[in-house]
Amino acid sequence: MPYMMTDPNGPLFPLSFVCPDISSKLRPDYVLRPLQLSDYKAGVLEVLKDLTTVGDISEKRFNEQFEYMRARQGEYFVVIIEKIATGNVVGVGTLLVERKFIHECGLVGHIEDIAVAKSEQGKKLGIKIISALDFIGKKIGCYKNILDCSPHNEQFYVKCGYSNAGFEMTKRFDK
Ligand code: ACO
Repeated sequence: MPYMMTDPNGPLFPLSFVCPDISSKLRPDYVLRPLQLSDYKAGVLEVLKDLTTVGDISEKRFNEQFEYMRARQGEYFVVIIEKIATGNVVGVGTLLVERKFIHECGLVGHIEDIAVAKSEQGKKLGIKIISALDFIGKKIGCYKNILDCSPHNEQFYVKCGYSNAGFEMTKRFDK
């Protein structure tokens, strides 16, 4: 697994996991990159509020969560899209890599928490986030990436090359 972090103050994962082809297809006023600590101030949590409840997260708590993820090399990949003119995060998505016993100790990528700021939706940013996470999944050795979504978003994921493979089942413990 080609994974080497050298800078303890660097991004969540190495830049070598960012697909150069996808970055080059972004409009020049946007950049796709790994999450970094400064993204708390750049509004990453605000973008996630377009997806679901986030809560009141202090910068300290954000940093602790970031460090937890960063210490687990090869497991957490959060990519963001930044709008260069404002320095704001306008898109975010996560790939969580699960280690299995089945499929010869195979790896499965779980795509989670995809969100594009309302004002930036419809500009092909979402599809680039998914392509970036697919690239990472393949590079790290996953035999597949999977995700859950509402029927409302099914066609978006079909456009990203995904197909419906069944039902999502859930049991909540927070209510
Ligand atoms: N239904 C049908 N088609 C869609 C939808 C949709 N809900 N959303 C996008 N598309 C289509 C677009 O029209 C486009 O089609 P085209 O290539 O033929 O023109 C294609 O999908 C790519 O669209 P993008 O512009 O890349 O999509 P966008 O940047 O707007 O991002 C997203 C889509 C992420 C769903 C965004 O609308 C969003 O953040 N929504 C709110 C949060 C959310 O629901 N996130 C997904 C949760 S599921 C999960 O996290 C695993």
